[in-house]
Amino acid sequence: MNKIALGVTSSISIFKAADIIRLFQKEDLTVQVIMTDRATNFIQPEFFTALSGQPTIVKLFDQKKHPIEHITLAAEISLLLIAPATANIIAKLASGLADDFLSTFYLAVKSPVLIAPAMNEAMFLHPQTQANIKKLRDLGVAFVEPESGYLACGQQGSGRLASPEKIVQISLRLIRQQPVFKDKLIVVTAGPTREALDPIRFLSNRSSGKMGYELAREAYERGAEVVLISGPVELPPPAGIKVEKVISAEDMRQAVLKYYDRASVVIMSAAVSDFKFSQTSQEKIKKEDLPSAIKLDRTPDILEELGRLKRGQLLVGFAAETSEPKVRAQEKMKRKKLDLMVVNDVSRHDIGFESDDNEVYLLWPDGRERLIGKTSKKKVSREILTEIGAMVNGRKGNN
Ligand SMILES: Cc1cc2nc3c(=O)[nH]c(=O)nc-3n(C[C@H](O)[C@H](O)[C@H](O)COP(=O)(O)O)c2cc1C
Repeated sequence: MNKIALGVTSSISIFKAADIIRLFQKEDLTVQVIMTDRATNFIQPEFFTALSGQPTIVKLFDQKKHPIEHITLAAEISLLLIAPATANIIAKLASGLADDFLSTFYLAVKSPVLIAPAMNEAMFLHPQTQANIKKLRDLGVAFVEPESGYLACGQQGSGRLASPEKIVQISLRLIRQQPVFKDKLIVVTAGPTREALDPIRFLSNRSSGKMGYELAREAYERGAEVVLISGPVELPPPAGIKVEKVISAEDMRQAVLKYYDRASVVIMSAAVSDFKFSQTSQEKIKKEDLPSAIKLDRTPDILEELGRLKRGQLLVGFAAETSEPKVRAQEKMKRKKLDLMVVNDVSRHDIGFESDDNEVYLLWPDGRERLIGKTSKKKVSREILTEIGAMVNGRKGNN
């Protein structure tokens, strides 16, 4: 089912519901908005009708499409999200009151329910509100914790609606989680590493981290526990995912090894620097003191080490090549005991580094290969995670 019901109540943060709709639409999901009567004091239903392309529902006894729409709609959705949720709607749902469309609908819904509260800090922390939240949690309702910060009432504190990105990310996980990823730790590395010469200068590469961040997001949506080990990139941390920030190849190595025993899958999509400076300086080296040739040493080969230490983990490597990409990648895969190799041809400027698109070959140790033609990195990550899911299910590892 590709439809989500979005309950919108009369909180001052109601305007953020527009971003939530847009983010769902980017995921090809249809959004049916349900407003409380009081929410229409802030925004007219037509606003959400225009954004969502679906007639906004407000009243229980005024259904044009179907006379008992609270029942028919319940069977069509994969999630009921209420964002923003007032203290009032939380109290109503906790007590089973059904005196308008949204609260009546809640009782008819069998799919997961997610609530994103938004209110003044005193209202949120009030023992009555907390007791209502606990009661709903005990009944299986999921919550997106509100954030701390500046509130519309002019005060600082907790109770601010979580970001639309976070709310949508958690929603997608509720819809898309798959049993194969449940209780599995997936470690993803992303971005470049930096090898310092002195506090100012470093050796690095053009990796943007976009591919790794999409892979981490996709793994999270499918229900895995995800640790994203990220070199220095410009991307915001994905919601719900533990991010370990690292700088050098050695930092990245240590971070990966920290999680390796517990990991079911490791996806090494980072572009780890191959070289580091033989000698580094804590102070900025003066221009006149810089030698004309600088000696480099090799950095640790993390993938090779993971291959050596492997005990059941699925190891996925990325290769960025400019010539004979497939031949070189096959050789690397065998040498490093990988279970899947994702090969980028980085001689092309329309894909790969810094681009939002990618085209990759997937290679397996048994000689099987698959081309994922040029598409967004989001879609590429979806395909890769589908293959990983099949491999985890079939336990076809290169151990
Ligand atoms: C300007 C204004 C802003 C409000 N913002 C919130 C809010 O952020 N959270 C909340 O729980 N209630 C807020 N309220 C109070 C609710 O609108 C009120 O409790 C209402 O009865 C809730 O109705 P509903 O849950 O059916 O939408 C606000 C009221 C006003 C007048």
